[in-house]
Amino acid sequence: MSRVRGKVVVVTGAAGGQGAAAAVALAREGAHVIATDLTPPALDGGAAGDDGRITARRLDVTDASSWADLATWLRATHGQVHGLVNNAGITWRARLAEVTGPDLARVHAVNLTGPLLGIQHLTPLMGPGASIVNIGSAAALTAHHPVAYTTSKWALRGLSAAASLELGPRGIRVNTIHPGFIDTPMTASAPDAFRTANLAQTPLGRSGTVDDVAPLVVFLISDESSYITGAEIPVDGGYTAHRGAKPVSDAMRGA
Ligand code: NAI
Repeated sequence: MSRVRGKVVVVTGAAGGQGAAAAVALAREGAHVIATDLTPPALDGGAAGDDGRITARRLDVTDASSWADLATWLRATHGQVHGLVNNAGITWRARLAEVTGPDLARVHAVNLTGPLLGIQHLTPLMGPGASIVNIGSAAALTAHHPVAYTTSKWALRGLSAAASLELGPRGIRVNTIHPGFIDTPMTASAPDAFRTANLAQTPLGRSGTVDDVAPLVVFLISDESSYITGAEIPVDGGYTAHRGAKPVSDAMRGA
């Protein structure tokens, strides 16, 4: 119950879905989690483990002044930060012919500029051993059709790679998790056809849960992953690993 004991960890988009699960999992393992979202997350700090606790704060990841306020508060209250989980994200399901520049800007502001601002504002408070986890997507490894979302997540891979290079000499690690289809409010808002089509491409044959992802967040924030940086790890039931071969494999099984 103490894999991240004493670490101060900021989680964005922690009001629900994967962010809430990550925040609770980190607190259970002893972290002091600063759980942030557009409205301060109402999370059960009672579930926290030894020394673990959750403090809720408002943070709009697109707003530099919101990050500056958080950094000022963290400096005054804790003096340092050991972890950042850039989890906040939005989708927009317009396809190539319909997507607009403003759509692209709005989605990139949350999914790409948000993590950039977080890294810029919090790394001055980080020392050797600190860890940043960016939440990408299987969309960042494929030709996922919602253009604004997919381009934002591909770009986040670039940011993660550049940040892991830049911050390595300071002993700060940067890794990316690529979830597949995970049951959260985000996927609940998609048509049923989206779920069915995703599961058909998933070798494990089921959707993921937030508890499939949160343990990896804990591992990457913890010192157990101290030599892992610049890595991209899918948590997708094998969705991206077969690279399009599953329909052929399925067809040939009975042929
Ligand atoms: P969700 O919609 O349940 O949670 C996203 C959270 O981000 C919400 O609480 C929302 O209020 C917050 N948020 C949105 N804009 C914000 C802003 N400007 N500032 C601060 N917080 C903001 O979605 P879910 O599924 O938990 O997503 C978490 C991350 O996982 C996202 O980055 C998403 O793109 C990614 N992801 C999700 C997948 C899934 O199947 N659910 C698959 C692949 C990636």
